[in-house]
Amino acid sequence: MGENTFYVTTPIYYVNDKPHIGHAYTTILADVLARYNRLLGRPTFFLTGADEHGQKVQQAAKKHNITPQEHCNKTVKRFLELWERLGITYDDFIRTTEERHKKVVSAILSDLMERGQIYADSYKGWYCVPDERFFTEKDLVDGCCPECHRPVEELEERSYFFRMSEYQDRLIEHIESHPEFIQPAHRRQETLSFLKKQPLADLCISRPKSRLSWGIELPFDRDYVTYVWFDALVNYISGVGYLADEEKFRTWWPATYHLIGKDILTTHTVYWPTMLMAMGVELPKTVFAHGWWLVGDTKMGKSLGNVVNPMDMIERHGVDAFRYFLMAGMSLGQDANFSEKIFVERYNADLANDLGNLTSRVISMLKRNYDGIVPPASDLGDDERALVDSCLGAASAMADCVANMQLDSGLATVLAAVREGNRYFDRMRPWTLAKEGRQEELGRVLRNTMECLRIASGLLYPVMPNKMMTLRRALGMPEESLEPEISALNAWNRLVEGSRVGDLKALFPRVETAKEDAPSCAAKPPQAEKKDSGKKAKAAEPVGIITIDDVGKVVLKTAEIVSAERIPEAVKLLKLSVRLGEEKRQIVAGIAEHYAPEELVGRTIVVVANLKPAVLRGVESEGMLLAAKAGKTLRLVTLDGPLPSGASVG
Ligand code: ME8
Ligand code: MG
Repeated sequence: MGENTFYVTTPIYYVNDKPHIGHAYTTILADVLARYNRLLGRPTFFLTGADEHGQKVQQAAKKHNITPQEHCNKTVKRFLELWERLGITYDDFIRTTEERHKKVVSAILSDLMERGQIYADSYKGWYCVPDERFFTEKDLVDGCCPECHRPVEELEERSYFFRMSEYQDRLIEHIESHPEFIQPAHRRQETLSFLKKQPLADLCISRPKSRLSWGIELPFDRDYVTYVWFDALVNYISGVGYLADEEKFRTWWPATYHLIGKDILTTHTVYWPTMLMAMGVELPKTVFAHGWWLVGDTKMGKSLGNVVNPMDMIERHGVDAFRYFLMAGMSLGQDANFSEKIFVERYNADLANDLGNLTSRVISMLKRNYDGIVPPASDLGDDERALVDSCLGAASAMADCVANMQLDSGLATVLAAVREGNRYFDRMRPWTLAKEGRQEELGRVLRNTMECLRIASGLLYPVMPNKMMTLRRALGMPEESLEPEISALNAWNRLVEGSRVGDLKALFPRVETAKEDAPSCAAKPPQAEKKDSGKKAKAAEPVGIITIDDVGKVVLKTAEIVSAERIPEAVKLLKLSVRLGEEKRQIVAGIAEHYAPEELVGRTIVVVANLKPAVLRGVESEGMLLAAKAGKTLRLVTLDGPLPSGASVG
């Protein structure tokens, strides 16, 4: 692989699910990273695709009375159409039912079998149909799937196993010596503690055809097909020519980023790297696990009936605004809440007000007072200092933020530069200059404001390619520089004097604030009703009294303590790992002087679940627990009887 190449992947999505904003998010993120890297002049390859084998596809096809392949051919279109609508610039779309993929999986299996990395044995375990995964008795939580909490089935069968256990030490060693391999850091910690807690088992990689026939047949036993994850993960290499086009493979592998949601961390940071080790293939540079988009407080998911359909959002607000919202609205690695109200607020603030207004003000003033011609560059003075610093600063900050996976901060610096543009414009009062006929000064103000918009539009282009193209055209930029290049974004005065600005309708027309999420957008669980729909506390209310709306802002949940440990050098703090239903979190609490770590494990406590994460003594804390204190005594708030974790308190 050339040092300078960029290869980014998304998970290949289950083809029979309807795409929702969670899927759209990972794919847009990959697209934005690919576009930024192309803008930086880096050779880039972006792979996405569809995961088409497995029980769910087989069942769905049977229900519709068609073959599984026909079912896939139909359902894959929903993803292809959405990616087209969203302007996703993938270089390849791989489907696991394609010959090019099946051949590679088959060759890998034969090779591993020949080299004794795969063996046959009988296996008894618990199987989760929706997740298509086997679990051991001790993995189960309350007798249910530890991942999705749905019921599991007990099965015993002869199976083939991959000797994953042999790679445990090497994998730990790799993760420890390559801090960039699993990101963000708390996910790396999650995988490491999983690997260090227990011996790693071998991985069952076969399914008997009697139970599941829709898969890639094992080359050494025709009665079995390949376990869907052992098939799906291989897409990352079969998609770039592994065993088929060695030169292509050498160009792109190892991947720069496998982008995934945190739901599929184990498969990507345990199964996949050990598979690669067994094959003798280099590991990807980074597996990056982002958080979840939540609706209310729950993960979006088909079974929960709360999915937000991206097509509806595009219909209502446009592709670019949707892409912008998803990128600006989630800190990479954290969960984020989706509601149309939050969407519209951000849209109005950032896009309609800050960016849209500045654009229409400067263009219409230029048309009215300057014949719509781009004024000449002028020397920069003290008046321009903050503006120029802010814009050029945003360009370099954006490059760093892209490299460090902090897109939301990068976008925030660009919007800050746009706001600086608004301040400059207001401070310089170009309307007065026009009235007083101070044409040269007027030209200077308009030109510099336009330079600000040129840089901002270039930096926002990977996120909002259509609208930013329109904006750049309106700034009178020549056709060949409409697609931004990094060198031009790091420099002032690149507009062409004397060129004519284009026509521009409102870039981002203001949207009336949505009072509540429209029902067609997301069927929300009742407890997730918006609690702050514009109602303000009445002025006459006494100080210190809060309304029920205020109480509703605090989301309290039950949490089970899974582990607890002291934090070196912080005598009062304990680091707790807690479970809130499906979700795992780390909480740092000042209770070390009152509780020993070992007496906490297994207890169910109450935590504030929607507190902004904070770093305490260098350790991330994703919530706060409730405790009562009198004098020197502190006691945790616990429940009066058993209840599962993740239950709402209030
Ligand atoms: O797991 N918020 O496919 P999948 C953010 N086929 N991202 C979300 C999300 C949410 N609420 N819901 C889903 C599979 N995603 C396997 C992958 S890869 C070799 C095989 C995104 O259709 C996120 O990227 O269930 C998550 O990891 C992925 O969709 C899961 O998609
Ligand atoms: Mg899933």
